[in-house]
Amino acid sequence: MFTRAKFSRFELLPPVLCTRRVYVQVAFLLLIGLVIFLVRMMSAMRGTFVHYHLESDTDGELVILPTEFAQKRGAVCLDGSPPAYYYRQSVVPAVRFWIIHLQSGGWCTTAEECLERSESALGSSLKTEMSMPLEGVMSSDCTTNPDFCLWHMVDLLYCDGGSYLGNRSEPLEVNSKKVYMRGALVFDALIEYLATFTLFKDAEQIIFAGSSAGSLGALIHADRLRERLPSSVKTVHLLVDGGLFVDVPDINGDHSMANILRDAFSFHHLHNFVGMKECTRTVTEEEEEYRCVLPEVFHKYVFTPIFFINSLYDTWFRKNALKIDCTLDLCSDINLREVVNTRIKILNEGQEILRSKKNGVFFTSCPCHTVLMKKKFFSITSRRVTVQQALGAWIDHQGNRRNLTEVLEVTDALRTCPSLIL
Ligand SMILES: *[C@@H]1O[C@H](CO)[C@@H](O)[C@H](O)[C@H]1NC(C)=O
Ligand SMILES: *[C@@H]1O[C@H](CO)[C@@H](O)[C@H](O)[C@H]1NC(C)=O
Repeated sequence: MFTRAKFSRFELLPPVLCTRRVYVQVAFLLLIGLVIFLVRMMSAMRGTFVHYHLESDTDGELVILPTEFAQKRGAVCLDGSPPAYYYRQSVVPAVRFWIIHLQSGGWCTTAEECLERSESALGSSLKTEMSMPLEGVMSSDCTTNPDFCLWHMVDLLYCDGGSYLGNRSEPLEVNSKKVYMRGALVFDALIEYLATFTLFKDAEQIIFAGSSAGSLGALIHADRLRERLPSSVKTVHLLVDGGLFVDVPDINGDHSMANILRDAFSFHHLHNFVGMKECTRTVTEEEEEYRCVLPEVFHKYVFTPIFFINSLYDTWFRKNALKIDCTLDLCSDINLREVVNTRIKILNEGQEILRSKKNGVFFTSCPCHTVLMKKKFFSITSRRVTVQQALGAWIDHQGNRRNLTEVLEVTDALRTCPSLIL
């Protein structure tokens, strides 16, 4: 039975041990106090010792949306887990500038591929790291990244395999596991959550960016995003990094790039996604609707100012879209001809993109794929201007910097950007 215990002071602190125990406890508390004091002092001094940056200063921390919030909106990753994002708060929380970035990671276009992906960080918020280093445009180092180091940073986890655009209502069952293709709902839920529950609800200026597969999502979501933003937002700029997936024939004469996007369009049910409708309704043949996801087609529908950052010799594109498996310095003449055809196509698209005065391009001859979230952001150049400088100038409306196109022949490009060959 439960009986109320009656404690006397001496039972709590036995008299013999009393004094010694108190000494030990007091000494212990003092020690803890000293450690806390030192840690605090060190973090206060951190600004002056840039070389001693702690890892966590640059990392974004994983935020997983509450399960109920996500499920109510049908917004789930491939494996059914809730959407997530990495967040690094500005060291000056009152800052109202935000970069929202959509990650790269290709596509899955069959049930088996998507099932495999659902078991990795590219398909599940349960499989991803708790924190993620944020580099390049998201760097927190104000010496190298003075324009953006104090911005709030959000990197949306790419977990849907369909460029954040899928809207397939029913999951597929593969090997008795369910796989969901709900990228558009994932994106909408993430933005709604940020705009409702975080400092984002007071945002004033936004850079909305994507890399590779993510840049396709950013391009197609940009105008919808504007409608979903808090009324405090004054400007939105869109960055498309390594996302000019032009439709050119590959080395065998097939349209591999267009075929990948066609497969993604049909497998993830992009025809169901409202953001495609303005374009798809202008297409007469249903089989041609997929062409709306081609950046060369969709950019014409985008009202938001766009800055395209692309290599004229994109390394991912060469291998996956042109099906050329050589490093540039060792490519045969036939392969090089394909590479140059792609360059010409990108330059033509650049002219189209620049027709709209709000847009800008940074086309480098240095072979690379994405640069925005990498240290290359500070070093890759076009006409002696780095991506970092070009972006800063474009955002500040310095019109003379909106067309940074540098066309070098392959041999000259390799000579000028030797450390960047991939
Ligand atoms: C998804 O598709 C349904 C109909 O299938 C539609 O009602 C809904 O608006 C779509 N959602 C988005 C975000 O496009
Ligand atoms: C952009 O710059 C390139 C290289 O200088 C030039 O050939 C092209 O005509 C320019 N395009 C526009 C629209 O200004």
